[in-house]
Order: sequence, then C-alpha cells, then structure tokens
Amino acid sequence: MKSILVLLLGLILFTGCKKEAEPNKENETAASADSTASGREELKMYEMSEMAALMEQMYAENMMLKQRIVSGDTLGNFPQHFLKIHASAMTDESENDAFFKEQAANFIKAQELIYKDSVNAEKHFNDAVSACVKCHEQKCGGPIPRIKKLYIK
Ligand code: HEC
Repeated sequence: MKSILVLLLGLILFTGCKKEAEPNKENETAASADSTASGREELKMYEMSEMAALMEQMYAENMMLKQRIVSGDTLGNFPQHFLKIHASAMTDESENDAFFKEQAANFIKAQELIYKDSVNAEKHFNDAVSACVKCHEQKCGGPIPRIKKLYIK
C-alpha cells in the first residue's frame, strides 16, 4: 500500500508534461500499481525523461542569465548543451514531430542571439522565452505559468 502511494505521488510530481486530460495515464497508473515488485523501477522511469531534465536545466540557467542581463553582467557563451533539445529522449516520443523540431530550432536561434548580439540581450532573452512558451502552448501547457516568470519586465 505504501509503495502505491509513493508511486502515485511520483506520478503527480514527476510526469514530464502535465496536460489537462490524459485518459491513457489512468490505465498506466493501474498497471504499474499492480506490479508492486517493480514499483521502484517504474517510479524511477516516471521521474524525468532526458528531455524533461534538460528543460529543468534550461529553466534554471535562464533564470540565472536573466539576473545577469538585468544587472548588466557579462553573459559568457551560449550553453552548448541546450543543443541536446534536438536529440533528448522524451516521455512521449510521438511529441517529437515536425512542429517540435521547428520550434526547437527557433528557440535555439533565439537563445543564441542573446550571446551574439548582447547589446540587445534583454530583447533577445524575452524572444527566447516566447519561443519556450510557443512550443509549450502546443506541446505541454503545464509549465507555462512558470516559464512566463522568466520574462524580463
Ligand atoms: C520545441 C518545444 C519546446 C521548447 C522550445 C521548450 N520546451 Fe519545455 N518542454 C517541451 C516538452 C515536449 C516537454 C515535456 C518533456 C518530456 O516530458 O519528456 C517540456 C517540459 C518542460 C518542463 C517540465 C519538465 C519537468 O519537470 O517535467 C519545463 C519546466 C520546461 N519544459 C521549461 C522550458 C523552458 C524554460 C524553455 C525555454 C528555455 C522550454 N521549456 C522550451 C517542449 C519544449
């Protein structure tokens, strides 16, 4: 019983993308709750996809970058590991469609501009955040309110 609770909590906290209604997820929950022996593994599986972990990193690093831009610090270089957005494993691989690829490319371009044209860093930064939001509007609505906190006002 305890492990089922842990598992459910894990699902709630760590599912890569929370959309409103996901009928399939209920079946998955029932299935994994049945297999108590492998409960731990399943929990681990649900924790975070490679893509979700990258997203969290991009969020944290952009939050720091925002501070640097606001306080007029040097910005350093474009974080190359952001390019992993093109190839990281996702919770649901079917989401890696033409729209995703196009939005990912737009986002990377916008993020690169922050460093290439740092005189206009603030504008480019906000464009990059808009690129995050644009993809999320189609792909993964849950984190949008959080992402919008990145905007430099
Ligand atoms: C090209 C589309 C796209 C772009 C651009 C994008 N995201 Fe995401 N994001 C996704 C998808 C799809 C997921 C779900 C990943 C998964 O579950 O495997 C996600 C997941 C997330 C999550 C949730 C991760 C978790 O904890 O489960 C956060 C937070 C996030 N993105 C923030 C951002 C931020 C910040 C940016 C811009 C710096 C950004 N995203 C740019 C598509 C995108």
